[in-house]
Amino acid sequence: MMELLERIKKTTYVLNEGSSSWSSPSNIAMIKYWGKYAHQIPANPSLSFTLDICKTETSIDFKPGNGQGISIDFLFEGKTNEQFELRVLKYLKSVTQFLPMLKDLHFSIKSSNTFPHSSGIASSASSMSALALNLSTIYNELAEEKLEKADFLRLSSFLARLASGSASRSVYGGFTVWGESEFFSGSSDLFAIPVENEGISPVFQDLCDDILIIEKGAKKVSSSAGHDLMHNHPFALKRFDIARERMGEIRDLMANGDMEGFGKLVEKEALMLHSMMMTSDPYFILFKPNTLSVIEKIWEFRREKGLPVFFTLDAGANVHLIYPSEIKEVVKEFVRDNMLVYCENARYLCDRIGTGPKNLNL
Ligand code: DP6
Repeated sequence: MMELLERIKKTTYVLNEGSSSWSSPSNIAMIKYWGKYAHQIPANPSLSFTLDICKTETSIDFKPGNGQGISIDFLFEGKTNEQFELRVLKYLKSVTQFLPMLKDLHFSIKSSNTFPHSSGIASSASSMSALALNLSTIYNELAEEKLEKADFLRLSSFLARLASGSASRSVYGGFTVWGESEFFSGSSDLFAIPVENEGISPVFQDLCDDILIIEKGAKKVSSSAGHDLMHNHPFALKRFDIARERMGEIRDLMANGDMEGFGKLVEKEALMLHSMMMTSDPYFILFKPNTLSVIEKIWEFRREKGLPVFFTLDAGANVHLIYPSEIKEVVKEFVRDNMLVYCENARYLCDRIGTGPKNLNL
């Protein structure tokens, strides 16, 4: 990575106007990232799969600036949004140390999500990966020495990580790993890598994720504040060790096609994530009574039907129902008859494992 960054920094470029547009999906972690050090270095490796439907589309028109440094105008879902604009501007300024050409540009950015902003679904992974992919494209448009695909994606993941850790994993489709792990060769704290399909039994290559919207309101505790609370957490070091070990366990379960073992590990991870929140100082509980009701129903369904339906949770109350697509029809019925009463306005989204971001200008 360092060699790539050096090369990028030294390249000569010609300032021009142009445009770039990417759509990038969100992702759902099986092994969770919770806790980080300075400069967005994760306290433990994480593994996720990239979604298909829940995504952000971001287009950027760029042109040489007025010589006063980086400037932007920003529209989110067609409207100005000062909070997002300031966050993006701050981020762009911070990455000029890696991409010096950015500081001589003006950006007109338009961004929108395919899922409602207030659905409680993490949009930082999709929005920040879409932004990062656009930055790599802008680099390639202006730089004399263009990046090949592998370097392009690595740079995008590196830049996405600096905006939001989980965004680093959305740059690739399928399963991805972010954070150094002895079980995934080439893994790094600085960027995510794709997990090759050869190492994964086919049953995992077609997973569905039904997102049950238990509560659509914005999160009460931001991820960043949550990560911070791991610094003085009494169980933090143990948690990081367990997560590191679980990377090996999940790799083997996926290689061996052990759906049952995989699902149970994924549920243990979700509950451990929330138990970290419940035992931090200050402590908090992000799930709701309906979250627990849904979990009980899932366990009951699994016991009665013997079908591989599992849950995971993000830093919120919503439940992700994870299952292989071959049982889609029976799960649909189960969700309709047993889950929707627990969802806000009976809302849920059907997503699945996806193939990764798309360059909309191609
Ligand atoms: C619970 O990536 O949102 O979803 O790096 O501060 O932007 P920042 O945090 P973020 O954290 C995601 C935490 C999680 C687990 C995961 O996705 O691995």
